[in-house]
Amino acid sequence: MEQLAAAINLRHSVRKYKQEYLSAEDEAKLTRKIEEINKESGLSIQYVDARDTSISRMQSAVFGRFGGTVNYIVMAGRKSNDLEEKCGYYGEQLVLFAQLIGLNTCWIGMFRRDNDQIRLAREEKAVIVIAVGYGVDAGRPHRSKSYEEVTINGQDAPDWFREGVEAALLAPTARNQQKFRFEYRDGEAIASSLHGAFTAVDLGIAKCHFELASGRNMKPE
Ligand SMILES: Cc1cc2nc3c(=O)[nH]c(=O)nc-3n(C[C@H](O)[C@H](O)[C@H](O)COP(=O)(O)O)c2cc1C
Repeated sequence: MEQLAAAINLRHSVRKYKQEYLSAEDEAKLTRKIEEINKESGLSIQYVDARDTSISRMQSAVFGRFGGTVNYIVMAGRKSNDLEEKCGYYGEQLVLFAQLIGLNTCWIGMFRRDNDQIRLAREEKAVIVIAVGYGVDAGRPHRSKSYEEVTINGQDAPDWFREGVEAALLAPTARNQQKFRFEYRDGEAIASSLHGAFTAVDLGIAKCHFELASGRNMKPE
């Protein structure tokens, strides 16, 4: 887990990919990590290789911004109240892992759900997908809210809390909305989010970053 923190500063969303399939080695590393996370989380995360798919089936209007050879990670699991947040928390571990092995990624909320590449058992739901491949470039830093805007009692907080929030501010969020909040209360960090589309996924992602930088456990129950 600790190594993943090194990828936080390097990661940016990338939407244009090289015309290159994943090497056998990179694919093996990624699918092994997916298996590991499925075991730990109980999720049913799937890898969809660009070779065995008619990619256009996954695309929607928004997805037209993407180009090149795109593989996907489908974040799915049994329906539950915390499925979205779990998909964010564990999906971001995959995003950072992918970054560490030289791949680029982009979360995609706007994908086609009526899609025969996504195989779901009964009671399961595909929450979101993550594009993965070799980026044409590394992307660039996003505009960010300030520490003060996303914290409550942040002025009194110790370094670990500050470092956690700074890492959360580097996290990807849908439309860069950054609707999460971290409150410092009784020596602990309490994370919450405002209402809106994909805010529960965003919260899981922000918690993943916060945990990696602060060392405080933020794992969904
Ligand atoms: C839950 C979620 C959904 C997203 N959906 C899309 C999408 O449908 N299309 C897209 O191009 N980018 C999407 N993104 C990427 C965000 O636009 C991007 O993370 C944000 O602008 C911040 O930029 P950065 O990831 O480069 O830091 C999504 C990100 C998240 C976390």
